[in-house]
Amino acid sequence: MTDHSPEVDPHSGVETTGHEWDGIKELNNPLPRWWRFIFWGSVVFSIVYWVLMPAWPALPGMQGNTRGVWEHSDRGNVAVAVAEARAERSALGSQLMARDVGEILKDHELSQLALSLGESAFGDNCATCHGSGGRGAKGYPRLADDVWLWGGSLGDIEFTIRHGIRSGAEQARTTDMPAFGRDGFLQPDQISDLVEYVTSRSGGAADPAAVVRAEPVFQKECSSCHGVDARGDRTKGAPNLTDADWLYGGDRASIRRTIFGPRGGVMPAWQERFDDATIRALAVYVHSLGGGE
Ligand code: HEC
Ligand code: HEC
Repeated sequence: MTDHSPEVDPHSGVETTGHEWDGIKELNNPLPRWWRFIFWGSVVFSIVYWVLMPAWPALPGMQGNTRGVWEHSDRGNVAVAVAEARAERSALGSQLMARDVGEILKDHELSQLALSLGESAFGDNCATCHGSGGRGAKGYPRLADDVWLWGGSLGDIEFTIRHGIRSGAEQARTTDMPAFGRDGFLQPDQISDLVEYVTSRSGGAADPAAVVRAEPVFQKECSSCHGVDARGDRTKGAPNLTDADWLYGGDRASIRRTIFGPRGGVMPAWQERFDDATIRALAVYVHSLGGGE
């Protein structure tokens, strides 16, 4: 028979639990006060929480979960915030759409709003190609200067952003420079002459005899887009070839490659991606970068 009366540890005077391992006996000390305090505190807290906040999954036959007395809902909060932002945005949008750029830029508050909205949309969507602040990269025009392929008025910029360039959109700006070399419209020596011609028109040192030979070829093949004086044509997005500002590079190899087969840079259409206010804000932002007309 085992003795069930509690055994008392002779050293500490505390009862043991009766558990023993290899002669070591467990003392039956009471739980510390702080531990019990936290334990009961948590129990009380969770009961109060269940009552106030959504907490329990629904019982069978009920929808969702228990709602809690406070009816708190993250989803509801987000919906309210989104509705507020939409309302603010559409108020800003109608103000932006109602005024021309001069008026927008004169209205300090409105222009600050447009610029900050435009700047953040630009950073998220345009800077990958055009560089931060629109500084440009090879094949991606610098937007922070007054050299424009298609035009630098607010209306021109907005149109470009809406419909894109060679984007496939219905109203996209599109002109395709022919592939003079690849498609055999010009012979290699004619292309070499044209490389000298373009180099000389942009202010570089070039072979004079080649420039003379190239002049009639340029007038026949190139002037319809780049202009008889090679200063470009914005209605066709054909760059000015005399300004030494290059989209694809002004060294001989780059010029030769452009004439051989066109680059056909693609700028996406943003009309479907953004609301009117964002597009107008982007146009105001790009216009403000330094080259707006
Ligand atoms: C995938 C790369 C890419 C992205 C992204 C992009 N662009 Fe472009 N963008 C281009 C290219 C390439 C051109 C020049 C096309 C050409 O050869 O005419 C261009 C041209 C433009 C032009 C015309 C410049 C001129 O000189 O007439 C404007 C304005 C412009 N982009 C604004 C924007 C804005 C604003 C955004 C963001 C909403 C944007 N781009 C996003 C590639 C891009
Ligand atoms: C149908 C119109 C058209 C014709 C014709 C045309 N071009 Fe172009 N050219 C363009 C366009 C548009 C671009 C813009 C680049 C692109 O495709 O993204 C361009 C770009 C260039 C560039 C690059 C400029 C830069 O800044 O890097 C050079 C150089 C050039 N053309 C030379 C010529 C020469 C030389 C001829 C005649 C043999 C010619 N082009 C005929 C439309 C034309």
